[in-house]
Amino acid sequence: MVEARQTKLAIVGAGAVGTAVAYSSLIRGVARTVALLDINKAKVTAEVLDLSHGLEFIPRADIIGDDDVAVCAGADVVVFTAGAKQKPGQSRLELAEATIGLTKKILPGLLEVAPDAIYVMVTNPVDIVTYAALKFSGLPRNQLFGSGTVLDSSRLRFLLSQYTGVAPQNVHAYIAGEHGDSEIPLWESATIGAVPLLEWQALPGYPPLDEEARRSIHHDVVHAAYQIIEGKGATNYAIGLAATRIVEAILKDEHRILPVSTVAQGFAGLDDVCLSLPAVVGRTGCGRRLDVKLSDEERAGLLASAQTLRDMQSRFGL
Ligand code: LAC
Repeated sequence: MVEARQTKLAIVGAGAVGTAVAYSSLIRGVARTVALLDINKAKVTAEVLDLSHGLEFIPRADIIGDDDVAVCAGADVVVFTAGAKQKPGQSRLELAEATIGLTKKILPGLLEVAPDAIYVMVTNPVDIVTYAALKFSGLPRNQLFGSGTVLDSSRLRFLLSQYTGVAPQNVHAYIAGEHGDSEIPLWESATIGAVPLLEWQALPGYPPLDEEARRSIHHDVVHAAYQIIEGKGATNYAIGLAATRIVEAILKDEHRILPVSTVAQGFAGLDDVCLSLPAVVGRTGCGRRLDVKLSDEERAGLLASAQTLRDMQSRFGL
């Protein structure tokens, strides 16, 4: 495992998401060097300065930034956040044309200066961008994958923790499929503490976690980003923390189970799409996918999600 003192995290895009990834990664001390790349030199310089002024309060780090891709040279992990912002009411899939083109333009330069990095795509629509980036780069699926539904699963755990009175860390439940409107909760395999979620008995003072409650929670997860974007124009803090969780699992070789977006490769009859299912994430990137028990409804939901992504991919010749 590479010691923290030598590691380098490069973040492509110094917008709301990219700077949130930088900020949370620095606070958690996940890498010795944090590099920000952005086409807007004045912006990236200002972000680096602002972050550097807080160095006294966080673990030792070198913070650098530039509009030249050379700033990413030798990175161990590259987090790709550059792309168009979702506007109020706009779906993530509607960003595809702009972000696929941008990914195709930026990737070659990155691969030249950081050929051995693990690439974590965050730019939306992340499943499509991940699939496109794998094709453009020719990298193996372990070395390039997407943040997928790590954030959505965290939203699900937050909502379930509010509903049940149990800490989010003790709610083991995943959102799978597209990081988007067709995503589905995996209720069948979920547990709260060591209790299967579908057998959960409400704690005193809390309502039953019945089908209606589960449907409402699923709706709130799917609509969370729209609600936040309506109110503040973008989401950034939670996706920044989610991406940092992924980076930490890689650089500390944690073998953490995370629902990252990667090529389906035949899981549940799925293929030629990238979507999220729980997988082992460590220093070599996205490893073995877990054989999660799916209900018939969940399997159908995953297949529908895959079809949504395939339809979008075919519009861009992917
Ligand atoms: C969200 C963005 C990251 O779900 O797609 O907040």
